[in-house]
Formats: sequence, structure tokens, C-alpha cells
Amino acid sequence: MSAGPRVFVSRMIPEAGLERIRQRCTVEVWPERLPPPAEVFREKIRECVGIISLLTDRVDANLMDAAPNLRMISNFAVGVNNVDLVAATARGIAVGNIPGVLTDATADIAVTLMLAAARRLGESMIDAREGRWLTWEPTGWLGQDIGGRTLGIVGMGRIGLATAKRLHHGWGMNVVYTSRTPKPEIDRELNARRVELDELLATSDFVSVHADLNETTRGLFGIERFRQMKPTAVFVNTSRGPLVDQDALVEALKTGMIFSAGLDVTEPEPLPMTHPLYRLPNCVIAPHIASATVHTRNEMARICAENLIAGVFGDKLTACANPDVEPTRRR
Ligand code: DGY
Repeated sequence: MSAGPRVFVSRMIPEAGLERIRQRCTVEVWPERLPPPAEVFREKIRECVGIISLLTDRVDANLMDAAPNLRMISNFAVGVNNVDLVAATARGIAVGNIPGVLTDATADIAVTLMLAAARRLGESMIDAREGRWLTWEPTGWLGQDIGGRTLGIVGMGRIGLATAKRLHHGWGMNVVYTSRTPKPEIDRELNARRVELDELLATSDFVSVHADLNETTRGLFGIERFRQMKPTAVFVNTSRGPLVDQDALVEALKTGMIFSAGLDVTEPEPLPMTHPLYRLPNCVIAPHIASATVHTRNEMARICAENLIAGVFGDKLTACANPDVEPTRRR
């Protein structure tokens, strides 16, 4: 084991990252499948200069204060909503994330959920397994067509764009999107149009959510938003669960306000087994698997490790979520 700076990794991550960390740091890895309890986490990082945290770890001021030498939090995710960025910045702790690397894998899952929810795949597979496939039925399991329909991307960032490209070039979908800023190149490439959310919801056959979770987007999809959608609309969320009011989604799906939904994220995670969303045949739920491919997770581990090492040695990070305290600028 290296005698370098002490770091804590809050779960077993792919070897592609761990081997790099072992070469430069003195590392302890939390070996359990579930996250370390908060008090154990605090104890483990007491002497640490850096940590790798997961989106399931709440990295708040309280945790940071348990580690007086902490200078680097490398989050094993593109989203950093689990980290209190204000608290980290106030303490001069850099927060690294890993944008870009999981774009394609996440866009693939957005498309997968869209197809599955549109074509009633979840429901029909369960029916087949449970003996309700009686014969080939002309009116059985009828879904929605995708080709040539309108796709609404809520949040045209990297993942929104990758999803739109797949569906425009592959299925000939018309693309509308919301974005804080105009995106003329995207408009040209995809023949797309930037619109207000009201128009997007009223005109889209498929609504795919790719916005960050923050105080302006929390609960964005409430009952009024679902009411604005077409009764044939398919709603997909691969972003973060709290963007959606799940009681409202249950009502929208139950009453036919919308056709179906595909979710890779929920609130909380895991969604309790008793949750009504599981009992709705028109809701496909995946356990937050968007980035779960061998290649993507290896790359996530590698970049996350590089961020960690850069942060603890005071070098420039590959990606920093609070650039005001980025290591090279701190010195
Ligand atoms: C992220 O990195 O934010 C993703 O949700 C992980 O799959």
C-alpha cells in the first residue's frame, strides 16, 4: 500500500479507479453493498484529505466538519445534488464530478424506457410470464408509434442532446426543447425548436426529462404539468426523482391523463415495494441503471479517481463543480 495522503472511498468502485488511487494514496474502501451510516462515515474520514462519495451519500457540512484536513470530494456521478456545494466552497473543499462520461449510456436508457413505455413492454412481459398470453390478439397490448412523432426534451444539456440525436436521426422524431439559452447549432442539426415548457408539454408525444435537480426544478412535474400533456403522451425521467411529484404521476397514469411513463429515477431510491407506481401497468421502473454499463462504470471510476488524486495533490481537476475553490486556484 502507498504511503500517500489518506482517502476514503465510500463503496467498492471498479478496479480501473481503485488501482490508480492505491498507487498514490493510502486508501480505505467501504466494503458493504449499502452506504456507510452517517456516523461511521464521519469516523472513517476523520484523518482523510480526500473522499470518493456516491450519489447515495449525503455529503453535508456536518460530514465535512468531521474531517479537518479534507480538501477534495470526488463524487462518483455527474449530478452533485447529494453534496452541499455551498458548505464545501465555504470550507475550501473542491468538489469533482464526472460530466460527459455517462452521456451515451444515459441517453440509451432514456430511449429504452421510451420504447418500453410506448410499446407496453413491461406490462406485456409480465402478462406473458403470468399466463395472460392467451392468443395473438388484434387489439391486445396496443401502444404508441414513435416514428415521426414529437419529442420534448426538458433540459437540453449533454444527455438531452444525445437522446434527441438518437431519436431524431434514428426515428425521424421532431424535436422541441427547453433550455436557459438559445442553441442555434442544435436547432440546425436537429431541425429543433427551443420553446417554453407550456408549449413543449402541449405539443410533445414524448417528454424526456434531463434537467438538473435544484430548487427551481424540484417538484416541477406536478398535476398541472401532467394535465398539460396529451392523453397519449409518454413521460420519461432519467434525471433525478425529486423533479417529479410522484403522487401526481400516479394520478396522471391511473386516470389516463397521460399514456405511460418510464422512470430510471425515483424519490426515494430504492422506491419502497409498497409504492403505488409499481402496481400501475403503464409505468416502467428501472433501479437507476442509466450509467450501468461495464465501459461507462470503468470510465466513471477512472475519472473519479483522477479527480480525487488531482484534488488531494493540489492539481487541476478534470471536472470541478465549485470552480471557485479548484485546487490550482487555491494555491
Ligand atoms: C449521475 O452520475 O448523476 C447518474 O445519475 C448516475 O447514473
